[in-house]
Amino acid sequence: MPRHILIRNARLVNEGRITDADLLVADGRIAHIAGAIDRSADVEIDAAGAWLLPGMIDDQVHFREPGLTHKGCIASESAAAVAGGITSFMDMPNTRPPTLDMAAVDTKRALAAAGSRANYAFHLGVSTHNLDAVASADPRRIAGIKVFMGASTGDMLVDDPVVLERLFACAPTLLLAHCEDTPTILANEALWHARHGAAVPFDAHPQIRSAEACYRSSSLAVALARRHGTRLHVLHLSTARELELFDEGPLAGKRITAEACIHHLLFDDTDYPALGSHLKCNPAVKTRADRDALRAAVASGRIDVIGTDHAPHTREEKAAPYAAAPSGLPLVQHALPALMELVHDRLLALPTLVTRCSHAVADLFQIRERGYLREGYWADLALVADQPRAVDDDPILSRCNWTPFAGRRFRSRVRATVVSGQLAWYDGILQPDCHGQALEFDR
Ligand code: DOR
Repeated sequence: MPRHILIRNARLVNEGRITDADLLVADGRIAHIAGAIDRSADVEIDAAGAWLLPGMIDDQVHFREPGLTHKGCIASESAAAVAGGITSFMDMPNTRPPTLDMAAVDTKRALAAAGSRANYAFHLGVSTHNLDAVASADPRRIAGIKVFMGASTGDMLVDDPVVLERLFACAPTLLLAHCEDTPTILANEALWHARHGAAVPFDAHPQIRSAEACYRSSSLAVALARRHGTRLHVLHLSTARELELFDEGPLAGKRITAEACIHHLLFDDTDYPALGSHLKCNPAVKTRADRDALRAAVASGRIDVIGTDHAPHTREEKAAPYAAAPSGLPLVQHALPALMELVHDRLLALPTLVTRCSHAVADLFQIRERGYLREGYWADLALVADQPRAVDDDPILSRCNWTPFAGRRFRSRVRATVVSGQLAWYDGILQPDCHGQALEFDR
């Protein structure tokens, strides 16, 4: 690996400010940031005024390994991630087998150590039978505890009230919740099935996985967290109504936080006719009013972080009729270019985007020495240039080989990504020999 990388003439976006500077990487770390750095390096990049951001830290991905590698694996999906400016990811437990104890976490860490281009960590899953493993989990070896309070891909639903009370009382670190009320969804599904049989249209998805289903479950999660003093992070908010459950303002001091995902910020229900199953995900993409409220909440700080919920399924699986088509979209490869659209449309200030994608994620998960452009910190960087590019002009790196953004043109592209001081992606080409590291947590 080149020991020194020098990025000149960049516009650094960090901690609420934009500054023109050079940045020197040495031995994995940010060695120096200054107006002009007068030295040579193994790799020199003229940023020519492009934005230099701390790489995105994605708190929610489904990289499918072990057990579901026909959809994706850590090597393939982390390659797509670095192309999208993501330098670290936290992977979800609904693999096969599911990640329900520390031995399963360690298996995944070993797979990532061998094959991941990005830095990595893993969430421990919850089932109705593993509360002892959850309570005794080592908070320094997992990113968080993930509970599916609504059924989704995999068989990990936990909705027994007794189990939930115990879980919220015993979680040893951040509890991440997928919130959708399954009885509400099943009742809606039965109604649509009675009307349409096997031909339920895909635009019924937000009626079936309805706003009501989301609110019932997320309000329950928030009530449980308040009662037990749990550190709760509600994942992928998809409705305006749920926003009332969360406080505006900076992360520091909050016990209950929220995440929004790229697809809920970039799509709305008018996209179902064109995308069909390629927009089917849980929670469902809902109305334009919901999308706009989520965007405003990201801007105001009521929503604390942005993730992707990258969830690849094959084209063949997605070709099934509504009831059988699995939910989830591949998103990591276009993460920063897609989000930059909100910046170009003046819906989000670039420093706020950096806070939600990097700073706040590092703070929320207490990640050691990442998520900021600071001397001494790990060099996890994304160089983003305002150069329009058609999505279809680049090969898809996710194994599933499709994207919901097909046909779109983004106004920015990721020129370079640096992971733990190694060039991971440069001018449209994956770089060889880039190895992510395990995230460390100051807990
Ligand atoms: O749409 C989704 N897909 N939502 C989830 O909660 C799971 C994910 C998956 O793993 O496919």
